[in-house]
Amino acid sequence: MQNVPEYHLEINDPDFLRNPYPLLEDLRNTKPIFWDAAWKKLWFLRYEDISSLLRDKRLGRSIFHLLSRDELGFPAPDPRLTAFDAFQKNHILDMEPPNHTRIRGLVQKAFTPSRVENLRLRIRHLVAQSLEVLPNSFDAVRDFAEPLPVTVIAELLGVPETDRHLLRPWSSAIVKLYELGYSDIQAEAGNNAVLEFSSYIKDLATKRRQMPQDDLITALVQVEEAGEKLNADELVANCILFLNAGHEATVNGLTSALLALHHQPEAKAELITATREPDTAKIWQTAVDELLRFDTPLPMFERWVLEDFEFQGVVLKKGMELGFFYASGNRDPNKFINPDKILLTREPNQHLTFGLGTHYCIGAPLARLEMGVALRAFLEKFPNYSIPEQLLEYSGFVIRGLKKLEVISS
Ligand code: HEM
Repeated sequence: MQNVPEYHLEINDPDFLRNPYPLLEDLRNTKPIFWDAAWKKLWFLRYEDISSLLRDKRLGRSIFHLLSRDELGFPAPDPRLTAFDAFQKNHILDMEPPNHTRIRGLVQKAFTPSRVENLRLRIRHLVAQSLEVLPNSFDAVRDFAEPLPVTVIAELLGVPETDRHLLRPWSSAIVKLYELGYSDIQAEAGNNAVLEFSSYIKDLATKRRQMPQDDLITALVQVEEAGEKLNADELVANCILFLNAGHEATVNGLTSALLALHHQPEAKAELITATREPDTAKIWQTAVDELLRFDTPLPMFERWVLEDFEFQGVVLKKGMELGFFYASGNRDPNKFINPDKILLTREPNQHLTFGLGTHYCIGAPLARLEMGVALRAFLEKFPNYSIPEQLLEYSGFVIRGLKKLEVISS
């Protein structure tokens, strides 16, 4: 690879998963753009590089509309992943304009800040309910962070309460396939989860066709029936995307925030004082963004080069894959003063946690609202929470979340 250093990142190394920031800092200082031959990617670590490339229309999330697998030098499609590959082709996160624009336009309305704000009372109620039954010692992933985002996105879409227990296991199996490197067992489980999830959504869509309700699935079914803007495969794939994307990172963001506050007691004390103010107060907005910047739940994303061009003296060739460490950009001292410190009132705070450009997170207003309400209520109820020494285990790097977080309240 011309002009750039080579380096191989052991992305799934448990120490790196536990705390990727020191190595990311070192790489940002010594090899801010490097080629990783094993992952076949050109990685970027500086904020300015990442934010400028994310806005560049010569990059995209998908390449297969322009080049065949042969032209890319890829092996034949993995027969174990047939259902997963079909799913990927049909949801907006892996689409490019004009298809992306067509479908995003249909769903964006459901997630505008004002629509989402209408959910505040419901979210407060759900949080209060879940905190009420927590004992003095609990797993903050399973008992606190998981239930809220799963319930909220399921209610928005229209998944009945009796079926909600199905969502998290399907989602966990599917998101394993986004990691760099997965086992045969994970491949099979992920593909099966797509099959089962798709068949579930198809059945639900049929029910909504027969008996419409006030939910997002009904709205999408009605668009699909009109026959122009959404086909049946896109309907299913996007519902699965919303259900998965609508909770995974929020669960991880909430538990990482509790851990980060535990590690920075000054910030924790300041936020506990802020529980005197309602969750609509500005401090809860800036604090949530700062906690999401500080520990980024989705630390890296990729883009394909759609046409040849030069960037920072490096020739980017059509068909090349680039990897962006949002987590590194979020700690770049050239963008953020004192980046390793949680500054709860940091403003401006143009972090990369929700991405930038065409694929900017649709659910950002919802994630912010859920996190603000949940964190405030948690700190109000458990101002003295502590986290005993424990070996922290993360589920992966691409979707980086704690498997378990034991919390004790006194
Ligand atoms: C803390 C929580 C969340 C984080 C950190 C997060 C992060 C992101 C990021 C970084 C992207 C862009 C990916 C890229 O650059 O390639 C994205 C896209 C997306 N997110 Fe989120 N997200 C969160 C919560 C949510 C929620 C609650 C929803 C609800 C539906 C959601 C739905 C989506 C969708 C549908 C996309 C695809 C948008 C597109 O391709 O146009 N996310 N998210």
